[in-house]
Amino acid sequence: MRQIIYRSTTTAPTGRAADDIPAILREAAARNGIDGITGLLYSEEAAFLQAIEGPEESIAHLIDSLRADPRHRDFTILLDRATDRRDFGDWTMAYRDRRESIDMFDERMRVLLAGVSAETVRYFRALAPAGG
Ligand SMILES: Cc1cc2nc3c(=O)[nH]c(=O)nc-3n(C[C@H](O)[C@H](O)[C@H](O)COP(=O)(O)O)c2cc1C
Repeated sequence: MRQIIYRSTTTAPTGRAADDIPAILREAAARNGIDGITGLLYSEEAAFLQAIEGPEESIAHLIDSLRADPRHRDFTILLDRATDRRDFGDWTMAYRDRRESIDMFDERMRVLLAGVSAETVRYFRALAPAGG
């Protein structure tokens, strides 16, 4: 299996990465299930941070789609590694609702990231709001 973590920036006129999430969810749900891809998509303000993991071919194909997707720019791979263990059992989207407090969101992220390998989790810790 291959796991990558990347970050990118939304091109939405509102500057909010979360605005495209409903449409992304529909595509991801249809394709990730079929291709054996699991992961976590996180958005905060203009930034996307996503971990995807699965069979090498599925990941390579999804990376091509992601690079060509005009909804984001500055696609930058932060981690790219072979692994024999999934960090994410499911396909999960994590984004902070505007009505949700940082404390509540932080707690939700803590639960999502429990049991995720240290190498993967530090990328999310670096971006996630630190409770302030
Ligand atoms: C930030 C972001 C994350 C995405 N995550 C996924 C994903 O996990 N799975 C997926 O199938 N498509 C995802 N997409 C959509 C793909 O870029 C692409 O539109 C979709 O897979 C259809 O690709 P195709 O037109 O090459 O078949 C994401 C798009 C963006 C902007």
